[in-house]
Amino acid sequence: MLKDKNIVLVVTGGIAAFKAISLASQLKKAEAQVYVVMTKNACRFITPLSFKSITRNKVTVEMFDESDYIPHISLTDLAELIIVAPATANIIAKAANGIADDMASTLLLSSEAPKLFVPAMNTRMYLNQITQRNIKNLTEAGARIMEPDYGLMSCGTTGPGRFPEVERIMGEVEILMSRQKSWFKGREILITLGGTIEDIDPVRFITNRSSGKMGLSLAEELIKVGAEVTLIVGNVDSAIFEKFSKKYIQCTIEKVRSAEQMYEVVKKQYSTCDVLFMAAAVADYKPDFQDDKVKKQEGEFHLPLKRTKDILKSLAKDKNKIHIGFAAESQNLEKYAKEKLMGKGLDFIVANQVKGEKAAIGTDQSELFLYHQYEEKPINISYGKKEDNAVTLIQEIEKIIKNHPK
Ligand SMILES: Cc1cc2nc3c(=O)[nH]c(=O)nc-3n(C[C@H](O)[C@H](O)[C@H](O)COP(=O)(O)O)c2cc1C
Repeated sequence: MLKDKNIVLVVTGGIAAFKAISLASQLKKAEAQVYVVMTKNACRFITPLSFKSITRNKVTVEMFDESDYIPHISLTDLAELIIVAPATANIIAKAANGIADDMASTLLLSSEAPKLFVPAMNTRMYLNQITQRNIKNLTEAGARIMEPDYGLMSCGTTGPGRFPEVERIMGEVEILMSRQKSWFKGREILITLGGTIEDIDPVRFITNRSSGKMGLSLAEELIKVGAEVTLIVGNVDSAIFEKFSKKYIQCTIEKVRSAEQMYEVVKKQYSTCDVLFMAAAVADYKPDFQDDKVKKQEGEFHLPLKRTKDILKSLAKDKNKIHIGFAAESQNLEKYAKEKLMGKGLDFIVANQVKGEKAAIGTDQSELFLYHQYEEKPINISYGKKEDNAVTLIQEIEKIIKNHPK
């Protein structure tokens, strides 16, 4: 995947600077073209010659080169990925605030290439709220910031701040590079998410615990790989949703309340989409709406419920489009997921547990099982953050789509 890719490795002045040597070497082994930029302080920890010997390319430290070659412009144009490893608290602060006072920081400001920061520093520096704020700002500006390893630091403290294993960095590099040539790039993706609200009377309603987090994580990843994303949003965690909608203003968003409204909007948006993700937790039943508040009475009260429209079943499905359903079950996960996959004529179904330790509804983590109509066995995406699972899920779906083109 990295063959002949132009990767700029920015090495800054931290104690882990020498570890960037094995990273450069791994990148070379993967047949990438590696161009190293070092800060002046990095040169106090390790020499440019070490990187030159491994990469067989000129190492840039100075911005004001005497030759005709203008390093920051040339590298800006050349870079397909910039890795900052190790990333000092200082370079993170400069990059987060648009400071461009040396070669490394100027390159980071001038390049539009994807950026991966590998922070490594003393635990107190890392946990300092200013560093954390800078990391957050950089993330919001689109950079990927790895979490450092936890452990005993060279300064004697124990905590987060250690330079991660090179294998872990290479894994992140592959994700960033694969995003650039994703199958989803430029495709129209329709995602439903959140729970629906079925009103009983002007005061009461029935809903479920869905936060919409999985759907928003999917949307975020699909935007990052260059897809055109439209969201149909039911009842969601408002803090998560607000953060998302402020960050991705390019995303078309339609808010709905009930299962009926969700069906109407899906029907309207469906014709232009290439892929439909039905991640919403749509009510199966709804009450007859009462115009006036239902008064309390003596004894039991029974609320009759009617079936809502099954959105996926009711859609006149276009065989050229890809349909991905979600199944949230508390038992017989595999059986129900397979029944839903076949019964609704889907290409994929993503199943997750809603009971027990790994319960996925209304939480930040999940374990997923991806079922595909041509494969007997599901792909297991282990219990982890929904954001990370969304990345893996998109990659796995992409692999299968490529093997079974429509
Ligand atoms: C021995 C020593 C080790 C250091 N290690 C780190 C480190 O691991 N991470 C870090 O953020 N800063 C570290 N620093 C501080 C940075 O070198 C300092 O903030 C410097 O200004 C960074 O410059 P640069 O970001 O331009 O390379 C260290 C300083 C010294 C003297």
